[in-house]
Amino acid sequence: IEKKVRKICCIGAGYVGGPTCSIIAYKCPEIQVMVTDVSQERINQWNSDKLPIYEPDLDDIVKECRGRNLFFSIDVEQAIKEANLILISVNTPTKTYGMGKGRAADLKYIELAARTIARVSDQSKIVVEKSTVPVKAAESIINILKANVKPGIRHQVLSNPEFLSEGTAIRDLLNPDRVLIGGEQSPDGQEAIAALSDVYGHWVKKEKIITMNTWSSELSKLSANAFLAQRISSINAISAICEATGADVTEVAHAVGTDTRIGSKFLQAGIGFGGSCFVKDVLNLTYLCESLNLPEVAAYWQQIIDMNEYQKRRFADQIVKCMFNTVSNKKIAILGFSFKKNTGDTRESPAIYVCKYLLEEGAKLQIYDPKVNHDQIMWELMKPEISENPERVKELVEICDSPYHAIEGTHALAVCTEWDEFKELDYKTIYNKMLKPPFIFDGRLILDHKMLQEIGFHVETIGKRLSRPPVCRPYANSVQ
Ligand code: UDX
Ligand code: UDX
Ligand code: ADP
Repeated sequence: IEKKVRKICCIGAGYVGGPTCSIIAYKCPEIQVMVTDVSQERINQWNSDKLPIYEPDLDDIVKECRGRNLFFSIDVEQAIKEANLILISVNTPTKTYGMGKGRAADLKYIELAARTIARVSDQSKIVVEKSTVPVKAAESIINILKANVKPGIRHQVLSNPEFLSEGTAIRDLLNPDRVLIGGEQSPDGQEAIAALSDVYGHWVKKEKIITMNTWSSELSKLSANAFLAQRISSINAISAICEATGADVTEVAHAVGTDTRIGSKFLQAGIGFGGSCFVKDVLNLTYLCESLNLPEVAAYWQQIIDMNEYQKRRFADQIVKCMFNTVSNKKIAILGFSFKKNTGDTRESPAIYVCKYLLEEGAKLQIYDPKVNHDQIMWELMKPEISENPERVKELVEICDSPYHAIEGTHALAVCTEWDEFKELDYKTIYNKMLKPPFIFDGRLILDHKMLQEIGFHVETIGKRLSRPPVCRPYANSVQ
C-alpha cells in the first residue's frame, strides 16, 4: 500500500460520508476526495444548491471545496479504482427479516461495497470501515476481500468509527474529542494506521488520535453510544419517580451532574432518545452478547431500550389521561418531528411513536416541523410497523407549514422536538386560537411553564408536577 493518502473514495453519501468527506477535503487541499453513492438523486442533490441533508455550516464548506478537491459521483467503480484510501460509509439498518430480525445489523450494503472493492481494484488499498457496525464486521470485510482480490493485491482494513452528532456535525468533525483508528497489529497494519492518522493530523492534535486493535475500536464505538443512551434512560427513569413524588427532574439532574465523576452532559430528561445510532447500536450490543452466550449482559443493555419504549408510551398516555381519558376525534398539534433539533432526520424519532399511540386512540394530528419534509413525515407514519391502516393515517394527519397553522382549532399541543423556535412562539395568540381548556404537553422541558400557566394553559411536562388546580393527575396513583 502507498504510505501517503492522495485520493480518497467514499462509498455512501449520507449523514456520515457527506459531512466527513467535506471536512477532509476542506482541511486537506492536496487530497482529492470523491464521494459516491448508488442513488443518482442523492448525488444530484450534493451537486446542487440544496444539499440532501441539513447540517449547520455544511453548505459553506461544500461550496468552498466542491469542484476543487471535493467531488460527488455515482461512478463508484471508477472512484474505487483511482483512490488509494476507501471509506465505507453505507447504511447499516437493523435487520427486518430472518436471523437477528429487529436487532442485528444488516450488513448487506457493507458486503456489497467490499465485493465491489475486491472486484475492481488493481492495487492494494486502505479500506476504512466508517459506518457503525457490529464487532467483528471488519473481519467479514477482510474475509470477503481476501477471497476475491486479484493476485498480488493485499488490502488493509481499518476501523475508524465516526462520533459526530447530527445537528453539530461540522463542529464535531472540526474539533473531535478523539479520533479512533483500529487496525491489524502487523507492520502493514501499522503503516495503514499511520497513513490514515496523517489525514486527520491536518487538523486534529496527535494526542487525540487513539490507535488500537480492530476489535477494540469497533467495540468502543458501540460502548460509547450505549453509555450515552444509558444516561438518557437513567434520567428518564428518575423522571418517572419525580412525577410520582413531587421531586423535579431538572433539579435532580443538576445536582447529580455536578459530581465531576458523573458530569452534567446528556442528562436531559424527555420523551426518549431517537436517531440512527442509539437504538440500533444498543440492539446490536444485546444481540452480540446473546450470540456470545452472555445473557445477563444482554439483559442489562436491553433494559435501556425497554426504558426508552416506556418513556415514549408514558408521554402519549399522559396526553390521553389529561384530556379526560379520550382523544378520539380531538385535534392535537405536534410541534417537532425530527429526532432532535437542528436536523431534518427522523430515523427512530420518538415523535413517530408518540404520534402512533395517539393515532391508535383516534386523535387527529396537525404536525409541524421546521426541517422535515411533509412526505417524510407521512412516510414514517404509514410504515407497516407504525400503522396497520395507512389510509386511516392519511385521514387523521395533516402536515402544516407553520406552528400557528398547526395549533389552529386544537385541544392540545405537544412538543416532541426541542427546536429553539418553539420557545419564541406567541403563546397568547396560540391560546386564543385553541379550544378551551387548552393543554400544553412539553415533552422536552423547553418552555416557560409559569408564563404559560399565567396565560391560562393547562401545562404538563416530564419529570415534574406543575402546581395547578387538579384537573388531572398524570401518573401518580394511576394504573399503568
Ligand atoms: C461512595 C460514593 O463515591 C460517595 O460519593 C458516597 O458519599 C458514598 O459512597 P465509597 O463507597 O466510599 O463512596 O467509595 P467509592 O470510591 O465510590 O467506591 C465504591 C465501590 O465501587 C468500591 O468497591 C470500588 O472499588 C468500586 N469502584 C469504584 C469500581 O469498581 N470501579 C470504579 O471505577 C470506581
Ligand atoms: C449520537 C452520538 O451522540 C454520536 O456520538 C454518534 O456518533 C451518533 O449517535 P446523534 O444520534 O446524532 O448522535 O444525536 P444525540 O445528540 O446523541 O441525541 C440522540 C438522542 O438522544 C436524541 O433523540 C436526543 O433528543 C436524545 N437526548 C440526548 C436526550 O433525550 N437527552 C439528552 O440529554 C441527550
Ligand atoms: P449514515 O447515517 O450511516 O451515513 P445514510 O443512510 O445517511 O447512513 O447514508 C448511507 C448512504 O449509502 C445512502 O445514501 C445509500 O444510498 C448509500 N449506499 C448504500 N449502499 C451503497 C453502495 N453499495 N455503494 C454506494 N452507496 C451506497
